[in-house]
Amino acid sequence: MKRQQIIQVQDLTKKYLINLHENGIGQRIKNLFHPKVKDLIAVNSISFSVYEGESVGFIGQNGAGKTTTIKMLTGTLYPSSGYCRVSGFNPSDQSNDFKRSIAVVMGNKSQLFPDLTPRDYLNLLKVIYEIDDSVFDKTLTRVSHMLNIEDKLDIQTRKLSLGERMKMEFLAGIIIQPKILFLDEPTIGLDVISKRDIRNFLIDLNKQENITIFLTSHDMEDIITVCDRLLIMDKGDLIWNGNCQIFCVNRSFS
Ligand SMILES: Nc1ncnc2c1ncn2[C@@H]1O[C@H](COP(=O)(O)OP(=O)(O)OP(=O)(O)O)[C@@H](O)[C@H]1O
Ligand SMILES: [Mg+2]
Repeated sequence: MKRQQIIQVQDLTKKYLINLHENGIGQRIKNLFHPKVKDLIAVNSISFSVYEGESVGFIGQNGAGKTTTIKMLTGTLYPSSGYCRVSGFNPSDQSNDFKRSIAVVMGNKSQLFPDLTPRDYLNLLKVIYEIDDSVFDKTLTRVSHMLNIEDKLDIQTRKLSLGERMKMEFLAGIIIQPKILFLDEPTIGLDVISKRDIRNFLIDLNKQENITIFLTSHDMEDIITVCDRLLIMDKGDLIWNGNCQIFCVNRSFS
């Protein structure tokens, strides 16, 4: 059976307009009336595609343009130019069907409400996304057991440890039954056991449930264990698109 391209990216570019600040009171006053600005090209005409069911690692140095790309693919940022299609939709349209088809987990940004318990928040998602009762209960039981957080579901989110909260973020992402899971540094700050639990969880989702994984991480162990293919960004350019194992063996990462 021919696999479908679930993410298509063609010449995708993002330029940020940044203010140039100059020292000296005179220059600062002048800047108020005639601000000096310049373009910063965060993502420079990148093209790639991802097939349904793939697990893709998206890596690069700090500032390489990874988060900016993920934000464009998930509809948080408008591209400056170029084209992207994700599960058949233009992300910038922000259609409800598009939002149902993806989940985003960011290590440095929480989607949970700190004053609610995770269970309350998940019940809120159940209503918003109109998730079937039995599917919701089954996913909740299975994933919370897998991530070992069953006894934390009724504790206020603000009282959870970083690792426990991250696992709840995964649960909240998966409960809506997405086709693609975007992960931006999901294991940042976690201990080795939590990292291992999360990697095993991602492998299981990808292999058993055919959920497409798009993973950014600075921990190469995450990438090597979870991903089949690797995309490498360097200062806004896509400089490698190929098999993850081949790259890692050649560079002696494993
Ligand atoms: N809102 C913004 N306004 C101006 N410049 C920005 C903005 N967001 C990001 N940038 C710049 O765009 C470039 C790419 O940033 P981005 O966050 O995509 O990098 P990254 O690859 O995710 O890096 P990291 O590994 O540190 O998370 C950086 O030079 C950053 O300073
Ligand atoms: Mg980033």
